Amino acid sequence: MLRTLRLIPTLSRANMHSTAHNFGAAQARLKEPEDCLAFNAEFPGPCHYHQLYEESLANPDTFWTNIASQLHFKHKSDKGLEYNFDQRKGDVFVKFMDGSITNVAFNCLERNIFRGLGDKIAYKWEGNADGDYESITYNELRTKVVEFSRVLKNRGVKKGDVVGIYLPMIVELPIAMLACARIGAIHSVVFAGFSSNALAERLRQSGAKTLITCDGFYRGKKHIPLKSIADEALMICKNINHSVESTICFEHLKRVTATGAASEVAVINDEENWDNAVADSKEVSAPVEWCQAEDPLFILYTSGSTGAPKGIVHTNAGYMTSAYYSMQVTFDAKPETDVYWCMADCGWITGHTYAVYGPLLNGMTSVLFEGIPSFPDYSRTWKIVDKHQVSKLYTSPTAVRSMMAHPDHMVKDYERSKLKVIGTVGEPMNPCAWKWLNEVVGEKACAIVDTYWQTETGCHLLTSHHTAVPQQSGCGNLPFLGISPQLLDDNGKKIRGEGHGTLVVDRAWPGMMRTIWGDHKRFIDAYFSPYPGYYFTGDGAKRDDEGHYWVTGRVDDLMNVSGHLLSTAEIEAAIASHPMVVEAAVVATSHKVKGQTPYAFVTIPDTAKFSDKIVNEMKAIIRKKIGPIAVPDIIQFAPGLPKTRSGKIVRRILRKVADGEKEANLGDTSTLTDETVIHELWVNRPIKL
Ligand code: WTA
Repeated sequence: MLRTLRLIPTLSRANMHSTAHNFGAAQARLKEPEDCLAFNAEFPGPCHYHQLYEESLANPDTFWTNIASQLHFKHKSDKGLEYNFDQRKGDVFVKFMDGSITNVAFNCLERNIFRGLGDKIAYKWEGNADGDYESITYNELRTKVVEFSRVLKNRGVKKGDVVGIYLPMIVELPIAMLACARIGAIHSVVFAGFSSNALAERLRQSGAKTLITCDGFYRGKKHIPLKSIADEALMICKNINHSVESTICFEHLKRVTATGAASEVAVINDEENWDNAVADSKEVSAPVEWCQAEDPLFILYTSGSTGAPKGIVHTNAGYMTSAYYSMQVTFDAKPETDVYWCMADCGWITGHTYAVYGPLLNGMTSVLFEGIPSFPDYSRTWKIVDKHQVSKLYTSPTAVRSMMAHPDHMVKDYERSKLKVIGTVGEPMNPCAWKWLNEVVGEKACAIVDTYWQTETGCHLLTSHHTAVPQQSGCGNLPFLGISPQLLDDNGKKIRGEGHGTLVVDRAWPGMMRTIWGDHKRFIDAYFSPYPGYYFTGDGAKRDDEGHYWVTGRVDDLMNVSGHLLSTAEIEAAIASHPMVVEAAVVATSHKVKGQTPYAFVTIPDTAKFSDKIVNEMKAIIRKKIGPIAVPDIIQFAPGLPKTRSGKIVRRILRKVADGEKEANLGDTSTLTDETVIHELWVNRPIKL
């Protein structure tokens, strides 16, 4: 039976009136912005790619400020892009329209409402259970955002304060993000699949004093007791000398269909309860806080190849401009007719830019999906595409690989005639996944757009602009407008024309990160010291003589599991915290669905004690410290690890073991300290390889 859930209480005539009245008042206060342009039908789309690309590099200030002029600024300075990538010339910095004043939430909501989009659906929420559904219009979304801004104000949150958000894919997640943006608070969303330790660490690092969460949710049949994980994180915070002063907890479970047994009942006290908090703050004033162009909008943590996760900082004007524009160009956005669906979780950058800010800035109608592609079965994605007549879909190679392992009728039973663009992100697109998307899903009538970018870049860096790049499997990508990539050789010299090297960018664009929260030195060390004068992506890439790029993977110690970056160092540190572990090394090995998966080598003092029990204990530690995604498929016993004479672990050899290669293919091992440990690695390799 189709069950309809209501996120928004039915409006009686009386309160409809009062809502209209409230908004009328807001409208009266805020004059309709003159420079808030309607959509320009003449907007040059990707068909003009080459010409536009040249313009974007020749006159970047004009190019980007023209795009920004389609958005609302309370005050505009005469500044464009200002930056320095070379620390030898002074501090590394990036600014866009410095001195201008704007508000991103206003641009996502009020600006659209003033353009007459108030009754347009902003989100079509599809719950984890098939049948749990609700929609919310731009007007309704704004009302909820204002309501929640009042709650934040009532809790003492001020402009510049950091607010932690730990929520699944429910409408309250964008509501909380936008409420922060409205009052100038900085949101720091932590993916709801992260463990209590990971959450605590991110709350401490960001200095968040407020945490927004919910009672729990279902992921397929699995109940995730989010509130209790959040409570555990708050206890951990206390132990690491960080106190979160205020928690707001949304009761989500009472409005969804249970798809499995709840593992525990959430304990929510009165002052934590979201609804109570809304009721208590009705009289509080929470107007739009006009922010400086370079005020931080959000922090998002991403794995670092060494040490703690990095709090990537994005700011208002630049991020907004890039999110708005890249959404339009890459997806050939047609807000009047499109139904767009970004399958990424808002806990990652893809969800920030392309499920929240990009689509809302463009006045799009988007699907927001709480569930997973495999539940109740692998046809779920296509059922949703059919139900909402989705025209633009943004997914990942991992999701595609998991779906293509099932019979084609799971796709073909559902109508996909409106589907025009299918974007992917997170990892390189392998040819058979491309072919499946093209033939089975798209029936050769869709553009398939591989997008390469990063948490740090804020928006797309390389994409297969579908009218500029032939629709062919394995065709390389072109730089996004305004992006100037370069390849460097081992000596840091620019490669001209065709070649393979380290991918860097030689000039700034508006949406790139500005710093690492609380650690500007690390920002410079990680991204600008490796090659002075360039932004270092950490990826390698190939380029052909026509300027098409193929990203070949990380050149540092990060791995890409199901499109999520994980640090080998962080997993190693988690394993090493097991009392029996002497040393651990983790490498990435390829995986049919996940792309890559961690594979660990562990040394303990007594060989005989290496048992399934210990392996499970190690896995439990990783699950707890980082999250399930980081748990290695295999933890192998190693009496010793191969090392260079300077004591560096030789991961090249470990990768060969993990990849199932023959010992004979080892290559030169003469520089290693103890060659006998190498043979042992092959002896101890699990049989199933
Ligand atoms: C990888 C995700 C190849 C890359 C938006 C990058 C890709 C890292 C692609 C960033 C792609 C992302 N082809 N590799 N299309 N997209 N990557 O920060 O290694 O979670 O550096 O941002 O994912 O991951 P992040």
